[in-house]
Order: sequence, then C-alpha cells, then structure tokens
Amino acid sequence: MSTDKNYWTQRYEDALTGWDVGEVSTPLKTYFDQLTDKTMRILIPGAGNAHEAAYLFKQGFTNVFILDISAIPLNEFKKRNPDFNEQHLIEKDFFKHKGVYDLIVEQTFFCSFVPQKMNRVKYATKMASLLAPKGKLVGLWFDFPLTEDLEKRPFGGSIEEYKSYLSPLFTIQTFEKSYNSIPQRVDKELFGIFSKKENKPKQANNPLHGITLKAILEELVAKYGWEYMDQKVRINCFALNPTINSSLKFLRKTPWAREKVEQLYLRSIK
Ligand SMILES: C[S@@+](CC[C@H](N)C(=O)[O-])C[C@H]1O[C@@H](n2cnc3c(N)ncnc32)[C@H](O)[C@@H]1O
Repeated sequence: MSTDKNYWTQRYEDALTGWDVGEVSTPLKTYFDQLTDKTMRILIPGAGNAHEAAYLFKQGFTNVFILDISAIPLNEFKKRNPDFNEQHLIEKDFFKHKGVYDLIVEQTFFCSFVPQKMNRVKYATKMASLLAPKGKLVGLWFDFPLTEDLEKRPFGGSIEEYKSYLSPLFTIQTFEKSYNSIPQRVDKELFGIFSKKENKPKQANNPLHGITLKAILEELVAKYGWEYMDQKVRINCFALNPTINSSLKFLRKTPWAREKVEQLYLRSIK
C-alpha cells in the first residue's frame, strides 16, 4: 500500500475525520442547484464520505463519479447509497486516474497534500488534464496562511498563490471569499469557478512556466538530496560542497546542465 493510502485509511479507521461536515456544504449545494444538465460528467476527487455526491445523485444527476485513495469511505458510501452506480466508485490515486469530465468538484482535497510547490503544480495540471474542453473546476479552497508545520492538515494558502497555479491553465470566472459558508468555515474559505482554457498559450502549456530555477532546485534537493542529484546530473557543483547558490550560479550559465535539472524536475512531478 502507498504511504498516502495508508495514511488516509488509518485516519478513517481511527475515525479522525474532522474535515467531514456531515452533509452537502452550502456553497456547493447552491452551485449545484443552478445546474440544468443532469447528464454532465462530474468527478469528486478525494471525495471522502461524499455528501456532495449523495446530494447530486438525489437531485437526479446520472453521471457522478466518486474517487478516493482509500476504500473505506467508498464502501461506506455504497452502504448508505445502495442504488448509486457501483462503477462510478473509483478507488484510486487521483494522480493516476484517467478520464474526461465536464465538472470537477473540490472540497478539502487540495489542502490535504503536503504543500510543496511541486504538489500544487501537479494538482492544477492533473485537474486540467481530466477536464473536457470548457470543463470546470469548482469548489472551495481554504483561505488561511500556510504555516511551517508539515504535519498539520489542512494546509492553507492564499488567493494569490492558488491563482499562480490555476490561472495558467484556467480562466477564472469567480474566486472570492465564500459568502455562504457553513458556520464553522465562515471567513475561512474561497469559492472558485475555473474554466479550462481552450487554446492554451504556448507558455501555459509549459509546466515550468512561472517556476524559477531556484524553486526547482530547492524542491529537488528537498525531495532527493544532493547525492541523488549528483548521480543524475554529473556536475561538480552537485558533488563538491554543494549549495543552492553555487549550483544556481553554474546552472544559469550552463544551458545543457540546466536542461537536465529541469527534465529531472518534470519527471518528478509526473
Ligand atoms: C481531507 S479529506 C476530504 C474529504 C472530502 N472531500 C470532504 O470534504 O469531506 C481528503 C480526502 O482525500 C483522499 N485522498 C488523499 N490523497 C488522495 C489521492 N492522491 N487520491 C485520491 N484521494 C486522495 C483521502 O482519502 C480523503 O478522503
């Protein structure tokens, strides 16, 4: 079992599911209530107990898909909603899932990933890749600052940071403080509607767009360490007393080495 699958399954086994609000949240319900096409393909990734899916299903939406890395909430959902199409319950790592959807719903999913820039870029890219042309990513993102504590979920962020990941791939229709949050989340979340960009400008297709060489190097070193970097890109500055600054100096004036580092980064976020 993967570490993530273990982690989340353990949370469900220990009933440590403080994120679960027990019913469809008001901002999402309000959004769903104005949708007219009941056949649209809807994905809820990291759905957990999936109260949003149960609501949509009861309203007659026929193409709702629930995805989670842990089997526990999916099995519980099946028991509570025996008529829901079993084929639409997907036990899988979101990043390995393939499909095409008209709408993807976000709620306390983004904030569950360790907040490295690499993970956040990967999330935005994956969301866009699962959407049909003109498809929409809709949902709620926490609006409180990220702290240094990498053990403490939910991980926060700011509207500007979220935009930096999403705007290269999506047109922002709405992204603002949610006006109708449930009481415990008032003032703590942003509601967003993002439409997948149709003709992405060349730069927006480039996953390196907007990411500095310094950020790339820092992520790689944090993830793999200097020794591994030295094995993958044989340059002296990775082998002898390596530092971020000395490596940056070298990489900036050595295009072939820079390209190797960027390729390593791209492979690491796939
Ligand atoms: C914080 S919970 C939120 C659940 C639900 N969205 C809610 O609001 O109640 C995060 C959920 O994402 C799932 N999850 C975490 N990483 C995942 C991944 N890589 N792929 C699919 N599901 C994942 C967890 O199992 C968990 O159910």
